[in-house]
Amino acid sequence: MSNKVTKAIFPVAGLGTRFLPATKSVPKEIMTLVDRPLVQYAIDEARAAGIKEFIFVTSRGKNALEDYFDHAPQLEQELEAKGKDELLAVLKDTYMDSGEIAYIRQHKALGLGHAVWCARRLIGDEPFAVILPDDVIAADTPCLQQMAEAYQETGGNMVAAMEVPSDKASSYGILDVQEDMGSMVSVKGMVEKPKAGEAPSNLAVIGRYILSPKILDNLDAKTAGAGGEIQLTDAIAKEIGSPEGVYGYRFNGQRYDCGSKAGFLQATVAFGLSRDDLRDDLEAYLHEVVSARKAAQ
Ligand code: G1P
Repeated sequence: MSNKVTKAIFPVAGLGTRFLPATKSVPKEIMTLVDRPLVQYAIDEARAAGIKEFIFVTSRGKNALEDYFDHAPQLEQELEAKGKDELLAVLKDTYMDSGEIAYIRQHKALGLGHAVWCARRLIGDEPFAVILPDDVIAADTPCLQQMAEAYQETGGNMVAAMEVPSDKASSYGILDVQEDMGSMVSVKGMVEKPKAGEAPSNLAVIGRYILSPKILDNLDAKTAGAGGEIQLTDAIAKEIGSPEGVYGYRFNGQRYDCGSKAGFLQATVAFGLSRDDLRDDLEAYLHEVVSARKAAQ
């Protein structure tokens, strides 16, 4: 089997209840960091890694997500007529070619593993990537591209990995490391959301995966795991000890948990500060606010 990965699954069926009331009518993945929806960052990262087919696993109430990737002829005409070429380029950057993007419905919220399994017929017998758009990663070389390069050597199954504080381990999939080779680790165990004090390490799975199609077969069993949900972590863990094996990849970059309000705010500030057109004003404002708060204490 070739180690070239051209298909990616984007599980976006979650209700986003942590962001209510916004998510009452706006899918969480459409929420913006500065001026780009979370999902646009995910698509850009996938493209940089060589992905050609983009498979979204959606649910009821996510129509805005499909519309976002559609062409917008009226808007295009207006921008053209007004000579707004820069905005026109921004708009066209969001366009997807016909047939490049597919949407599958997950009819019941049965877990991340189940969401991925819903896309099985579109994956077939090829390795594939999974990107969780909530995990936004700022990096010089996009995270999935770093992984795709490393995967050329290893094949098998690879998850993005990052050290987290021990008291946060129970919010993640956690790796039990067999051999630590620096950026790459081989894995001898994986636990989804371990109970406090029971995590085998503090090396957590972050939402980027390159997986063998065997994982989809493993998900056929539909076994419920942590939280009563069908977990992707458990399906990957079944491949530990197989000839293909499981690897963790410590990526270079800064990860923001945009599934949480605090992470989303941090990402907003960081992405704002990274923009030439916003940096100076934002920096001055942040200084002002922080100094005023300190003075008041
Ligand atoms: C999911 C995965 C978990 C992983 C995490 C990273 O959990 O199940 O293994 O560590 O994403 O963000 P969730 O955050 O969807 O509960």
